[in-house]
Amino acid sequence: MGSDRYLTFALGKGRLADKALSMLNQIGITCREMDDKSSRKLIFVNEELKLKFFLAKGPDVPTYVEYGAADLGVVGKDTILEENRRVYEVLDLGFGACRMCVCGPPEAQTLLQNHERIRVATKYPNIARDYFHNKKNQTVDLIKLNGSVELGPLVSLSDVIVDIVETGSTLRENGLVVLEEICPLSARLIVNQVSMQMEAERIRGLIRELSEALNGRRMVK
Ligand code: PRP
Repeated sequence: MGSDRYLTFALGKGRLADKALSMLNQIGITCREMDDKSSRKLIFVNEELKLKFFLAKGPDVPTYVEYGAADLGVVGKDTILEENRRVYEVLDLGFGACRMCVCGPPEAQTLLQNHERIRVATKYPNIARDYFHNKKNQTVDLIKLNGSVELGPLVSLSDVIVDIVETGSTLRENGLVVLEEICPLSARLIVNQVSMQMEAERIRGLIRELSEALNGRRMVK
């Protein structure tokens, strides 16, 4: 009976959403309505497959999924760690691979080694707090920023930053380096805990097909 109900996907806006949609395409899940990039519609429907999709700000995706406004979500591991919502993380989708790192000017290395009380600028205060306080036992002052975090050490707002490093070019172009690696990151599929029970068959089928597509792709490479 579950198949009469729509399954709703929340996708993090931007690069991840495009890659998520092409991965869903690989397993036959399409949404033609979304191809019209000029559309201002917020919710897109595939009537045949009984699926709905909406795009949301990355940090809001786990919120929609926790409350059941979306059954499934695609979002970066950084956002999952930072938001710490009650959702199941069921699959590493592989794309959007990058690292969460402590970065700064090379001379900041000694501040870290000596466990000095330093200022840390970041978009990810929960991840930074967990790393410094719980894993390193180092007392730091956290400064929350909303973007262009690399500016922190350049304008002497902070000693170091905790931020995402993908290609490393933002760091290089600004004379900064990776000082410590916190964890690897990539896009993940998350599922609402109730939906996982109520729509088990459809959701498990979907996870299986996505895993097979991922494994197939790895074998081809
Ligand atoms: C992210 C991140 C770094 C940059 C890293 O920023 O915060 O600034 O990408 O990528 P790279 O290692 O390939 O240079 P984003 O572009 O999302 O914008 P933001 O700085 O406004 O957060």
